[in-house]
Amino acid sequence: MGNQPQTTASRNRRIILFPFPFQGHINPMLQLASLLYYRGFSITILHTNFNAPKISNYPHFTFISILDNHPEDERFSKSLLLDFAPDFIFKQDGADALRDELELLLASGKDEPVSCLITDAFWHFTQSVADSLNLPRLVLRTSSLYSTIIYSSIPLLDDCGYFTLDDNHLEEQVVKFPLLKVKDILKIGIRSNKDPYAELIGDMVKQTKASSGIIWNSFKELEETELERVQHDFPILNFLIPLPKYLTTSSSSLLDQDRTFFPWLDQQPPNSVLYVSFGSISKVDEKEFVEIAHGLVHSKQAFLWVVRPGFVKGSTSLELLPNGFPGESGRVVEWAPQQEVLAHEVTGAFWTHSGWNSTLESVCEGVAMICSPFRGDQPLDARYMSGLLRVGVYIENGFQREEISNAIRRVMVDEEGKEIRERARVLKQKGDVSLMKEYYGCSCKYNCELLSSL
Ligand code: UDX
Repeated sequence: MGNQPQTTASRNRRIILFPFPFQGHINPMLQLASLLYYRGFSITILHTNFNAPKISNYPHFTFISILDNHPEDERFSKSLLLDFAPDFIFKQDGADALRDELELLLASGKDEPVSCLITDAFWHFTQSVADSLNLPRLVLRTSSLYSTIIYSSIPLLDDCGYFTLDDNHLEEQVVKFPLLKVKDILKIGIRSNKDPYAELIGDMVKQTKASSGIIWNSFKELEETELERVQHDFPILNFLIPLPKYLTTSSSSLLDQDRTFFPWLDQQPPNSVLYVSFGSISKVDEKEFVEIAHGLVHSKQAFLWVVRPGFVKGSTSLELLPNGFPGESGRVVEWAPQQEVLAHEVTGAFWTHSGWNSTLESVCEGVAMICSPFRGDQPLDARYMSGLLRVGVYIENGFQREEISNAIRRVMVDEEGKEIRERARVLKQKGDVSLMKEYYGCSCKYNCELLSSL
């Protein structure tokens, strides 16, 4: 974040970016847009009205609303990607609307030619539109290399019968991906290659391979072991950019970030506070909510817990919470400036749902993790962070107060935790060094080639 680039005065090429309208997708796309802006490109953002970005935070960008007419107050009401996707992705009029808009932009851009279209990987229909206009399309993949490799192997995993294995096999290793257990594969949330979500992933993978290149929100030292495989599975240009190292997500936050807890946070001793947040989409039931609260209290550690509106399914039974909760050693907020909290010296660990942005933001600040993945790519990244890089521990059996408080104490208090936190610190340093090389010496080909290829 300290490496924020300088604005370049002359702008003579435009890039059009099209984020998928969920917080975990909007944040990295707008970070990328800002990075490209600071490197001298003019920026046009296409967006849906559903979860529209806060346009007033980006007076230097051009915004064009496209595809739908959902009012802004529907923000976060469609909690799952699949509630949203069929309306917009599978309809031909989506492609037509995009083509019309792009044709206008291309025709009006004589003094400022359009370099390329960058879309979220989930907007797979945009590839054929870009092809029909001879416009290069780059894909921003907002998840890890590792989880995307697993996603591209879903047909293979299906052929091997993994998605239909019963509970007796949950702890078994997945032969093709020995880091994973069968339960990790099942937690992705699909049961066959024909599931709508599997079909969406299949189309996403296919059209990503047909694009001109992929921009990954990651860095080489974080996923070094996956690079070769990615280049094999996606034999196009691959660029790695750890976006949280350059910019925060405060301007692209869909919810207002509460800052009132900072006076309390500032008073805590270094490395003493557990930051708890489960991202922008995941939900728990009342019982799980209560278990989380008891787990926090039993751990006897200070905590800052983000309880997003709608995080608890049904009503919240406050009377079931521990007496006097959260007390002086804890704070509960609706939404926080996450990167600032992670960068704060008092933050000792991050209990996360292992969403990729949260994971990367934690890695970039050198903060050890406690991983409680819900679904999708999260169980895969949780396994990678805890099992391979060992910068976190994995709570494997849902939300149970004892397992929770044990995991918290393992990371925050025990000898084991010191080693985990040291590994997290070293990983951050590796990222910093990689970034310095890219910034000053251009030795990291993955990043520098992006700008010269546009
Ligand atoms: C989901 C998936 O979990 C993720 O793996 C996928 O790649 C994108 O979609 P989400 O649940 O939103 O994402 O989690 P995550 O990817 O971690 O993104 C959450 C974003 O919200 C982060 O950038 C985080 O900084 C921000 N955030 C979170 C806040 O600004 N304030 C908060 O209080 C909590």
